[in-house]
Amino acid sequence: MTNIAKGLEGVLFTESKLTFINGSEGILTHLGIPIQEWAEKSSFEELSLALLDGELPTAAELAHFDAELRANRAIPQQLIDIIQHMPRGVHPMQALRTAVSYLGLLDPQAEEVTPEARRAIAIRMIAQFSTIIAAINRAQEGQDIIAPRADLTHAGNYLYMLLGKEPTAEQARLFDIALVLHADHGMNASTFTAIATSSTLSDMYSCITSAIGALKGPLHGGANEAVMDMLDEVGNPEQAEAYITKKLDNKEKIMGVGHRVYKYFDPRSRVLRDYAEVVANKEGKSNYYQILETIERVVVERIGSKGIYPNVDFYSGTVYSDLGIRKEYFTPIFALARISGWCASVIEYSRDNRLLRPDAVYSGATDAHYVEIKDRQ
Ligand code: ACO
Repeated sequence: MTNIAKGLEGVLFTESKLTFINGSEGILTHLGIPIQEWAEKSSFEELSLALLDGELPTAAELAHFDAELRANRAIPQQLIDIIQHMPRGVHPMQALRTAVSYLGLLDPQAEEVTPEARRAIAIRMIAQFSTIIAAINRAQEGQDIIAPRADLTHAGNYLYMLLGKEPTAEQARLFDIALVLHADHGMNASTFTAIATSSTLSDMYSCITSAIGALKGPLHGGANEAVMDMLDEVGNPEQAEAYITKKLDNKEKIMGVGHRVYKYFDPRSRVLRDYAEVVANKEGKSNYYQILETIERVVVERIGSKGIYPNVDFYSGTVYSDLGIRKEYFTPIFALARISGWCASVIEYSRDNRLLRPDAVYSGATDAHYVEIKDRQ
């Protein structure tokens, strides 16, 4: 009997030097360095460059890259016009997918697919994603679009463009850490999608547009928004235990828990929980944080034995919501971070490209013949 790797689980299709995950022990490293160290000591800019080049940059390389990002933050007026004229109420990931695809039309280098061209486009896209996402958010809310500033960090500038005021250093750093935690995660569905597109020698904008589509789904990037929906549905901490117990009794899926690779705590969820706790303790425990504490306890007690533990999406929403970000924008923020991992993975794969072309076991009819339409029942 032929074995089918449903969901491609356990299928190895390439080598990568970027990210290592040990799901049973809850370990995640980039370039061999634990995610906790990246979160504590590094920045989104540095991790992005390290992923693109496959090594830790020198101070001069990082300064040059940071300057390139800052210089490329502005987006073309034609794209701003498109964003302003998008229908109101669309899903922001639809808007992002359209905007990135349109950005490709405006880039004279878009069709170049050498690793060098892909890298140059990647830097512009990393820089411009934050401007595009902030612009979509503001346009959808009927607010003026705010131009980027070159004197702020990548994270600080995003919050500035979104909220219209300069964030505190603490807020900017907290958001920077969230970006670091989401920047790359091995062969997840959206990265795999980006690679599948690039393997046909398609252009960078097509790779990233298809990755955005894959990230949009609730089983992948859409889960953080679904966690907030759940928290709103629970309402107050006293209801949390009964709510989650009922869901588990009914064998319903709990959003923000479970992971194809992690069968123990996702290490990113631990880092985010610690920050969410600090914020919660400082400002008086929010309902959201207290509800999550209860859900985590009950989930681990009830289905931890199945390898179901909180994933990165479990606490990220409360952190974003404390920063003033609306839940509809949580998934675009995931993309804002993951753009680095997508680009780095595409570039790495394209250095030794092979067209991706898996197969399916045929289980349909055999020896059939065409039946004229008038003769069909
Ligand atoms: N809530 C309750 N039970 C769950 C959950 C969950 N979220 N996830 C898995 N289980 C149960 C399954 O029902 C199954 O139980 P059974 O053995 O009694 O049938 C068992 O745990 C194993 O689950 P699988 O479906 O085999 O696990 P899989 O690896 O396919 O699922 C997935 C991974 C899709 C992420 C799943 O856990 C899920 O849907 N989680 C909720 C959505 C979510 O948070 N997604 C974000 C993932 S992280 C990211 O993309 C950034």
